[in-house]
Amino acid sequence: MTVIGIIGAGEVGSQIARAAIANGYEVVLANSRGPETLRNLVDELGPAARAATAATAAAAGDFAVVAVPLKVVKDMPAAELAGKIVLDTNNYMIWRDGHIPVIDSGEKTVYELRQEHLPRSMVVQAFTHIQAPRITTAGRPAGHPRRLALPVSSDFPGAVKLVTRLYDRFGFDAVDNSPLSEAWRSAPGQPAWDALQHQTRDELIANLTRARRITTTGGRDRG
Ligand SMILES: NC(=O)c1ccc[n+]([C@@H]2O[C@H](COP(=O)([O-])OP(=O)(O)OC[C@H]3O[C@@H](n4cnc5c(N)ncnc54)[C@H](OP(=O)(O)O)[C@@H]3O)[C@@H](O)[C@H]2O)c1
Repeated sequence: MTVIGIIGAGEVGSQIARAAIANGYEVVLANSRGPETLRNLVDELGPAARAATAATAAAAGDFAVVAVPLKVVKDMPAAELAGKIVLDTNNYMIWRDGHIPVIDSGEKTVYELRQEHLPRSMVVQAFTHIQAPRITTAGRPAGHPRRLALPVSSDFPGAVKLVTRLYDRFGFDAVDNSPLSEAWRSAPGQPAWDALQHQTRDELIANLTRARRITTTGGRDRG
């Protein structure tokens, strides 16, 4: 049984847990307040789920999901995540995260920063372009004419492969937008962001191609 360590058990983390369990995975979930605060969620998820600290969840996972805004990235258990594929669901939101100058200037993407903070992990952008509740409801079988596509981006082809397989199991197509330095193409403010929720594979590819750099600070979110 493949175990997913999920750090962040809010809207996205809990929905990925539900979809994962429905697809035969086990999950170990963590939040910032401690495993005892996740009792209701774990009860709802059933025997394939347990709660732990972030370090234990990271250590338990065959791979991990970080569903925590980037502003707390330095709290992630880098040692326990070392050597593992780490799915980063983060979207850079200035209203929530504050300004991060290297992202605002276009020097780095939010996922390159996550990769820097987890240097021994294989970071991959995943599940950023779907509202959390739809992770369990919007999936469609392969070949469905309106099957949604989600971007995936990493510096590690093996991580892209894993996310592509996971998307497929959850009912979504993947569009590879690697490496991490290209992830700005799907950032808030870009066409692929504005069309969130509705893009087929061809539409997402077209929207990623239409992206234009936003490098000045002026109140728009970017990442
Ligand atoms: N919501 C969406 O529809 C959506 C969709 C796609 C992507 N995203 C992105 O995914 C990320 C998570 O979003 P969300 O909506 O799921 O946020 P959320 O509902 O606020 O949940 C955040 C989770 O992270 C946990 N957390 C915070 N700091 C932590 C730490 N240091 N160690 C362990 N856990 C920690 C929180 O635990 P506590 O509650 O105990 O503090 C909470 O469980 C964000 O970057 C967001 O932009 C969101």
